[in-house]
Amino acid sequence: MKDRMDEVLRRKAAALAGGGAERAARQHAEGKLTARERIELLLDEGTFEEMDALVRHRCQEFGMSEQVIDGDGFVTGYGLIHGRLAYVYAQDFTVFGGSLSEANARKIVKIMDLALKNGAPVIGLNDSGGARIQEGVVSLGGYADIFLRNTLASGVVPQISAIMGPCAGGAVYSPAITDFIFMVAGSSYMFVTGPDVIKTVTHEEVTKEELGGAQTHNNVSGVAHFQAPNDGACLRQIRRLFTYIPQNNTDEAPRRATNDPVDREDAALDHIVPLESNQPYNIKDVIHRVVDDGEFFEVQEHYARNIVVGFAHLDGRPVGVVANQPAHLAGCLDIDSSVKGARFVRFCDAFNIPIVTFEDVPGFLPGTGQEFGGIIRQGAKLLYAYAEATVPKITVITRKAYGGAYCVMGSKHLRTDVNYAWPTAEIAVMGAEGAVNIVYRRELAAAEDKEAVRKAKTDEFNNRFASPFVAAENGFIDDVIVPRETRGKLIRALRMLENKVDTMPRKKHGNIPL
Ligand code: HXC
Repeated sequence: MKDRMDEVLRRKAAALAGGGAERAARQHAEGKLTARERIELLLDEGTFEEMDALVRHRCQEFGMSEQVIDGDGFVTGYGLIHGRLAYVYAQDFTVFGGSLSEANARKIVKIMDLALKNGAPVIGLNDSGGARIQEGVVSLGGYADIFLRNTLASGVVPQISAIMGPCAGGAVYSPAITDFIFMVAGSSYMFVTGPDVIKTVTHEEVTKEELGGAQTHNNVSGVAHFQAPNDGACLRQIRRLFTYIPQNNTDEAPRRATNDPVDREDAALDHIVPLESNQPYNIKDVIHRVVDDGEFFEVQEHYARNIVVGFAHLDGRPVGVVANQPAHLAGCLDIDSSVKGARFVRFCDAFNIPIVTFEDVPGFLPGTGQEFGGIIRQGAKLLYAYAEATVPKITVITRKAYGGAYCVMGSKHLRTDVNYAWPTAEIAVMGAEGAVNIVYRRELAAAEDKEAVRKAKTDEFNNRFASPFVAAENGFIDDVIVPRETRGKLIRALRMLENKVDTMPRKKHGNIPL
């Protein structure tokens, strides 16, 4: 018995040592933590239970039979985040460059299957040279096994990826299927084909950082959702995300106590929308003033900034916030903002998080770039996402709600439960000047004093449509509210919708225009 115990301890110690002190030092020198250090920071202190620390690879070729490390380079298991169960795997770059083998792919598959059966989130900490080159197709099979689990788990349990080192080739597709991707600035990168291949094929010269660093994927491609300056900050961000999301698709997101009064009024909201309707203002000021304790956790902060998405609490209950941003591109909807908004709305809907929309949208962004890029197909994604969402939905129109964008942004017609408008709302097919140019084209051409006719007709249009009243008269707006009272109105509506049940027709799945 004692011999056996000694053997267990010896092998576990070997697993703990990973690729050894020298490689761990190299990891630290690059500003990165080791896989186990990362897990320690991610989970509540002392709650990590490791599984499969004794797994070994079975590769006999290329001298691999002499290089065996217990655990085979991936650390997998479960623990608690804010007292709630989470499954975790971390690739250990100090062991064969964190490469994926048949054996350690099975470790991931094992915890993903457990996560699905037990209804708890999965977090993957990625830091890997990709498929284990010595194993060939067996390793590729391991990736495909993981991709299948990612897909099956999508919409059932939240899946989170942190990129904390290399993540290249087909390996990127596991994080891509997960709900949120966090990246560490300066030490992580993601790309399908690297700089060398690109140089050979297209003759472009680009660095790894330019091609797939945290900035690129947070600002340009929209692949990532968050970036952090270092590993510790990244892991703290993940823990923060967990205060807003439920364990699975049948669970409710965790509520938290707040001392922020339900009926707290904010007089500044009455003056936040400029009198001049083409003047910008920052919609985040509105969000901060309305939600509990002014706390807003923004998602994809640096990408498609004409739409703002993120999490907040109202009355202690997590909500997803979607808002047009007049301070960027006048809040127009374009391809990137439509896709960003649609993915966020679908996450909230999949995981029972109510959606609160603040709307100030002059329409879809015009231009050949948008049309050739498929704004028809891409904009439809946001429309589709709002329409299919069955969670409580509340929309507040702060200013413009024009054209098709009026329909898309959580309008009553897409079965939004409660629609409010501020007195500054303008709900119409288009702005008054554009409307007059079309409807009164002949009168304008024939008029002697064109400007006088234009002004008179524009005023007429503004009086009729640059207001919330026509929409309210039709019942498309449930109430025109005083801006300072927005918080109380939203909370009471959310309470009213507490037990909402709505369904979709029976189908295998919809066919969202991808
Ligand atoms: C086996 C690997 C490995 C791999 C790295 N190592 N990648 N071992 N399989 N894929 C080992 C190295 O031999 C080395 O071992 C240790 O990890 C650290 O690697 P270094 O090269 O010294 O580190 P660094 O200079 O930081 O460079 C990191 C790297 C580079 C850029 C990731 O290692 C690299 O280019 N690796 C190969 C990447 C690759 O082409 N992978 C396949 C991609 S295709 P020692 O013993 O010296 O410490 C793919 C397909 C997935 O992944 C398909 C899914 C469908």
